[in-house]
Amino acid sequence: MANVIIIGTQWGDEGKGKIVDLYAQEADVIVRFQGGNNAGHTLVANGRQTILHLVPSGILHDHKCCILASGMVINPKILLEELDELASHGLPRPGTTLHVSESAHVIMPYHARLDGAREAGMGNCKIGTTGRGIGPAYEDRASRVGIRICDLMHPDIFARKLRYNVDEKNHYLTEFCGEDPVDYDDIFEEYRAYAERLRPYCDNTPLRIERAMKAGKHILFEGAQGTYLDIDHGTYPYVTSSSTVAGNACASAGVGPTAISEVIGICKAYTTRVGSGPFVTELSDDTGERLQQQGGEFGATTGRKRRCGWLDMVMIRQSVRLSGITGIALTKVDVLTGFDTIKICTGYRIGKKEITDHVPGDLEVLEQCTPIYEELPGWSEDITTARSMEDLPRAARRFIDRIEEIADRRVVLVSVGPGRNETILVSNPFR
Ligand code: GDP
Ligand code: IMO
Ligand code: MG
Repeated sequence: MANVIIIGTQWGDEGKGKIVDLYAQEADVIVRFQGGNNAGHTLVANGRQTILHLVPSGILHDHKCCILASGMVINPKILLEELDELASHGLPRPGTTLHVSESAHVIMPYHARLDGAREAGMGNCKIGTTGRGIGPAYEDRASRVGIRICDLMHPDIFARKLRYNVDEKNHYLTEFCGEDPVDYDDIFEEYRAYAERLRPYCDNTPLRIERAMKAGKHILFEGAQGTYLDIDHGTYPYVTSSSTVAGNACASAGVGPTAISEVIGICKAYTTRVGSGPFVTELSDDTGERLQQQGGEFGATTGRKRRCGWLDMVMIRQSVRLSGITGIALTKVDVLTGFDTIKICTGYRIGKKEITDHVPGDLEVLEQCTPIYEELPGWSEDITTARSMEDLPRAARRFIDRIEEIADRRVVLVSVGPGRNETILVSNPFR
């Protein structure tokens, strides 16, 4: 039995969807453990692209148990649309089931309205959220006024909780934001209909996971976003509203930390970021533009252009530490093909001081950091057909070796294209 956590080591969009889809072949249960439809996970299987925002990336396989864990915030409209879209392609596959935690929180229409209104009010300081209502939904969870999946199943309880929330949010929307109110009756009717469609999926998921573990099944925990969007360890306030580090897989799914065998950190061969906030290795020049173009760096959720820069190993080293990463899956290495030289940031400079062992938590300090680069030779050969390390040009192998040295972790997988098979599997965390 192996229980493996997958997390992003940067600012999201590292290619988690592809790697989860790949590892899902080995797993029996796939658990998405935090966030909501702010995520966009792209899978390319048998030449067809699927973008998932909520459903775990194991859904494309036969005989899998897919779980949306208690720590998620779920927009039922989006979930049902995603399931309808999958159904139009004959998915889920035979024997594959989906289970939604009864304890997960529900994203309501007022959450997206509050998200938008708050961003508009912040002007130049806005976070650049996905506008999906993620922050306000997690706020309600913390304030203990949130509506959970199980509440939707009881019309009287749902009515009471919705009434309180609509009154409270309308006060804020109209008085503070100068916006139109939301309508209680419209929301009640809409969400009652969702509840009936969701009822068959509503489940005690920690119990289901425990039973699977006792039966010796392999569990894969799928993270969303990335380490530097973590509410505690990210570049606050330019972060998301959940904990994205590996520890939260256990808290959100309801399993003990002793059950985990491996933590795989997904690391893109360069760095990207969507939304506002500091970015030490950002390239606002032709090289950044080239990475953006060659990498097809557009957000899978909002379609925004992703900001691009060289790989920042100070960030990766800290990610390894924060999540107890046991192996690195290095993605999009093919995107670097054709660059004469490739840079890796090995430290930060502030005035005469050098920092190599941590990313400053104080944004005032982080914003003053400039990158210290190591320059490595590039390669021009097409590497998308490489299926073993020996197939890679010497310069690409040197790049990977250097990442292993600096991170002090093995690269267990190298991704050389978006397709499932465009992968070098060095070792398998499930075996
Ligand atoms: P996620 O949010 O971490 O799942 O990542 P996204 O799906 O948002 O973004 C990653 C993008 O890169 C997707 O379009 C993937 O299809 C694509 N991708 C993943 N791995 C590779 C790779 O190794 N090479 C290339 N060229 N594209 C990749
Ligand atoms: P995946 O799972 C990249 C970013 C937003 C914004 C900040 C807060 O595909 O890697 P939010 O809507 O969560 O309140 O926005 O977080 N963000 C992501 N960036 N990939 C994601 O998910 C993201 N989810 C949120 O752009 O900067
Ligand atoms: Mg994404």
